[in-house]
Amino acid sequence: MIRLLAIVLMVAVNAAQAQTISFARDVMPILQHYCVMCHLPGAEQGGLGLYPDTWNRMVGVPSKQSPLLLIDPGSPNKSYLYIKLIDSGESVGGSGLLMPIQQPPLDQDQIKAMRLWIEQGAQQN
Ligand code: HEC
Repeated sequence: MIRLLAIVLMVAVNAAQAQTISFARDVMPILQHYCVMCHLPGAEQGGLGLYPDTWNRMVGVPSKQSPLLLIDPGSPNKSYLYIKLIDSGESVGGSGLLMPIQQPPLDQDQIKAMRLWIEQGAQQN
């Protein structure tokens, strides 16, 4: 009985995690709305340009402020761009402020979508 319960629980957990995050549908609108205005070519605050060609400008690209990559596919806790959404960056050897600056932090659903997208391999999907 306990084994059956464990299997049922595992199936339920897998179903809850099965949501695939899409870069185009879920991630890009967040960046466009909250980030790109300060990270545009010619006005790349913090030395970071996020537009155009956003995916190529962050996935596997070294951060200037820290020893980490901006997005390290599979590893949100080693992805500096993700860390700046929840922390100033100092905890991982970076500096500066929580992003986006001059605005409230992203809400939990947005942060979770970014995290899941990175965990799922930061695909260009
Ligand atoms: C109002 C302008 C502004 C907004 C909006 C903004 N940033 Fe920034 N960003 C900066 C500035 C200025 C710096 C450098 C100083 C600092 O880190 O506090 C920076 C630095 C960064 C860095 C460090 C770059 C590196 O190479 O190490 C990352 C990553 C970053 N921002 C991501 C984001 C993300 C993601 C968003 C949206 C959620 C965002 N920023 C929104 C102004 C902004």
